[in-house]
Amino acid sequence: MKQEVLVTGADAGLGLSLVKRFLHGGYTVFAGVYRSKDALLTLEGDYGDSLTLIPLDVADLESVRAAVRRVGERTGALDIVVNNAGIHLRNSKPSLEQLDLADQHLQQTMEVNAFGPLRVVQQFLPLLEKGQQKLVLNISSEAGSISDCRRENQFAYCMSKAALDMQSKILQNYLGPRGFKVLAVHPGWMRTNMGGLEAPLIPAESADGIFQLAARKWNADDPIYMDYRGELLPW
Ligand SMILES: NC(=O)c1ccc[n+]([C@@H]2O[C@H](COP(=O)([O-])OP(=O)(O)OC[C@H]3O[C@@H](n4cnc5c(N)ncnc54)[C@H](OP(=O)(O)O)[C@@H]3O)[C@@H](O)[C@H]2O)c1
Repeated sequence: MKQEVLVTGADAGLGLSLVKRFLHGGYTVFAGVYRSKDALLTLEGDYGDSLTLIPLDVADLESVRAAVRRVGERTGALDIVVNNAGIHLRNSKPSLEQLDLADQHLQQTMEVNAFGPLRVVQQFLPLLEKGQQKLVLNISSEAGSISDCRRENQFAYCMSKAALDMQSKILQNYLGPRGFKVLAVHPGWMRTNMGGLEAPLIPAESADGIFQLAARKWNADDPIYMDYRGELLPW
């Protein structure tokens, strides 16, 4: 039977490349659509029933619940969830003195990058429990590494990814005995809306590496935090 995967934030960038890579690899893909399904619609003709578009705002619990219902209408089990959706407001590098703590972007970054994946895993857990692979693949960042941190600003983004890393470890502790593997993967610096034009990596290359990681046989006590090539990162 075909493996089934959910990718969040699939409208663009890495998420879109992951959808393409998993479809090419023979998976049934549920693509979480946040604002625009235009790019995904072009794939529907090529892959037919293997691709289902699911409206999904990971910052909104009701939206996540509705997504679970829609996926549940198509399948009784999900093998992999890729928590890819993320935001990094590009002009948000104020110094400590300039930082506006009343600005909603701080909270919004945590809502999407840190609590979003937790909402998704919690709500999709019944479907994931019935899947064969039981893989939670959180798209993190080197920006979440505390021991490697050299930045002096970008509080919201870095803190949100460090929180996602901690969440990955807690989920591994809790869900490992139930057969789950949780990964927190830095996708590399990619040429996307978030990464910008100067980034050295195209998202398709990162998606290919992440696809290879998803296809590996993992044990619960294997490392969690690594880049898209499987190179381990320090927490
Ligand atoms: N690019 C890099 O160099 C880099 C480096 C390290 C880590 N990452 C991580 O890699 C992941 C993908 O990044 P990317 O470069 O592909 O960024 P991107 O091009 O900005 O794509 C992010 C995707 O997430 C969607 N999204 C935003 N808010 C959402 C929400 N509330 N619910 C659901 N989806 C939402 C976006 O939708 P819209 O386009 O409609 O807004 C978009 O489809 C992120 O988690 C990011 O933190 C990226």
